[in-house]
Amino acid sequence: MVHEVVHYLRCARGGLFVDGTLGTGGHTLAILQHSPATTRVIGIDRDPEGLAVARERLAPFSHQLQTVQGKFGDLKIILSGLGVRAVDGILLDLGFSSLQIESPGRGFSFQRDDPLDMRMDQTQGISARDWLAHCSQKELIGILKEYGEERWAKRLTGKILAFQSKGPVETTRELAELIAGSIPRGGRIHPATRTFQALRILINDELTQLKSFLGEFLETLKDGGRVCLISYHSLEDRLIKQAFLRLERGLRDPLGMSEPVRPEGQPGFKRLISKPTVPSQIEMQENPRSRGAKLRVGERVGGPL
Ligand SMILES: C[S@@+](CC[C@H](N)C(=O)[O-])C[C@H]1O[C@@H](n2cnc3c(N)ncnc32)[C@H](O)[C@@H]1O
Repeated sequence: MVHEVVHYLRCARGGLFVDGTLGTGGHTLAILQHSPATTRVIGIDRDPEGLAVARERLAPFSHQLQTVQGKFGDLKIILSGLGVRAVDGILLDLGFSSLQIESPGRGFSFQRDDPLDMRMDQTQGISARDWLAHCSQKELIGILKEYGEERWAKRLTGKILAFQSKGPVETTRELAELIAGSIPRGGRIHPATRTFQALRILINDELTQLKSFLGEFLETLKDGGRVCLISYHSLEDRLIKQAFLRLERGLRDPLGMSEPVRPEGQPGFKRLISKPTVPSQIEMQENPRSRGAKLRVGERVGGPL
């Protein structure tokens, strides 16, 4: 949804933007191509491999781009490290990139045979292989249910743990075949889709990152600044929808974990579209991965923060 992002961020006006999920730079390229030459983009990604590709692709705009290896959940700290108080627009295009799926050795795709890694930043944290090798039955059932919304969580856990009595699951293919042989194939999606999603979310702490961002992004937007958030599954979209609604109602705590500290009725935020925008038929045909994407957009509208 590149055109929609360019439109909602009002790129033609120019300004200072954050692309918090730079990936290989597709959205940032469009932002820069549709903005005046004074525009600057701070491009953040946790994946050093993706950042290197983005820097090369965006070389013609290098004087307008600052790249940072980091996490969008740390946005306030990152901006303050750059001496930036507030920006005109922020984009997050959540999930994983085509590069991460297609590059050898990353372990995100059940259609490849790679080591079961799944870390977006391979210099930190533990791999999916190591987590699976040491998790308890309760933990595995929990994450398959919560992050994968997998109805066969119990059965799958039994099969995976039984397999691991002989040694860890080492590769994506091993795991995908184990899953396909354990649960019925239902609907259009591959039976391993939900398990891979659950492990990826867990290994990269994706929901914690999103919650942290939702809790503080408003403080990094200028008056009239906009935020565009693209999500790919219901767990993320639900969090975003809930946070936007609470912020619009003037509740300072967008995740509803504590009492509001700002009285209702002083909105500092408004949703620009009440229902999420989804990709056009053409976009879905051209890019099947965009299927399921939802874009929500909001604007900081003043009032004390
Ligand atoms: C769907 S891709 C973005 C693609 C990008 N919009 C483009 O046009 O190339 C998602 C990217 O977000 C990055 N990412 C995911 N979680 C992140 C986080 N918490 N902080 C920073 N980057 C993150 C991934 O490494 C991946 O490169």
